[in-house]
Amino acid sequence: MTNKAMDFLWEHFFHNEPLSTSINVKRSWIMDNLRFIPIIKKGESFVALDSNGEIVGVYLGRQMDIKHIRKEKLLDLMGPTLIKYGLLLTGATADFSKIIWLKNHLNYDPWKFMTDNQSQRIYENIILAVDKKWRGNGIGEMMMQDVNKSVKSAGCEYTYGLYTSKFSTALSVNMGNEKVLSSAAYKDLLDSDGKLIFPQYKEHTIVSVRICKL
Ligand SMILES: CC(C)(COP(=O)(O)OP(=O)(O)OC[C@H]1O[C@@H](n2cnc3c(N)ncnc32)[C@H](O)[C@@H]1OP(=O)(O)O)[C@@H](O)C(=O)NCCC(=O)NCCS
Repeated sequence: MTNKAMDFLWEHFFHNEPLSTSINVKRSWIMDNLRFIPIIKKGESFVALDSNGEIVGVYLGRQMDIKHIRKEKLLDLMGPTLIKYGLLLTGATADFSKIIWLKNHLNYDPWKFMTDNQSQRIYENIILAVDKKWRGNGIGEMMMQDVNKSVKSAGCEYTYGLYTSKFSTALSVNMGNEKVLSSAAYKDLLDSDGKLIFPQYKEHTIVSVRICKL
């Protein structure tokens, strides 16, 4: 299932979602094996299957417990830099630093959120993708509802994530109990030459850090 989920993400997420499309990321051993497969193997992610057992949606995320803040925050700080240089060396993308920059710009920091809000356990939303041919049929909404229910029963008090698409943002609003911690319009994210940092935003206007109280 892990490899099938990775194949699904390369077909339905990385060439569709505004940030990864903008940095033109190519499939590489590093992206799969150092970044995403470890998340899937943690066992806190979800897939939706059709009646033939084929994947129609993937929701990657992880539970974060304040008890592990010291060890895991350090890994979270080091991980993106290692991946950035790995992707650069293998030619998978030269622009991963733009994603690191954006997260800093929007103060993306689930650990800080937990300490500020005295929360013991949250669920970080990392990726949500639905099969291209099934989008707009409520699968994304169903998955988000089911994931929220499941992680709430596992003790999570909030979900926390970066919402880059107009449709995932609509899902977050539909869940209710949501709050925007920070946001930016793609058209305002410019480099020092005045060029768009994420040019492939298409119909998506805003990128935001959002939480949902479960
Ligand atoms: C985001 C995504 C997972 C949503 O999945 P989905 O199954 O299509 O979502 P739903 O059918 O439950 O619809 C969610 C909302 O988006 C709207 N929507 C979905 N597809 C739409 C489309 N093509 N045009 C207009 N609205 C659309 C729905 O109307 C709904 O909003 P509403 O309830 O306010 O009407 C899917 O678009 C996707 O995989 N996108 C590519 C990857 C990506 O960008 N992921 C999110 C990164 S944060």
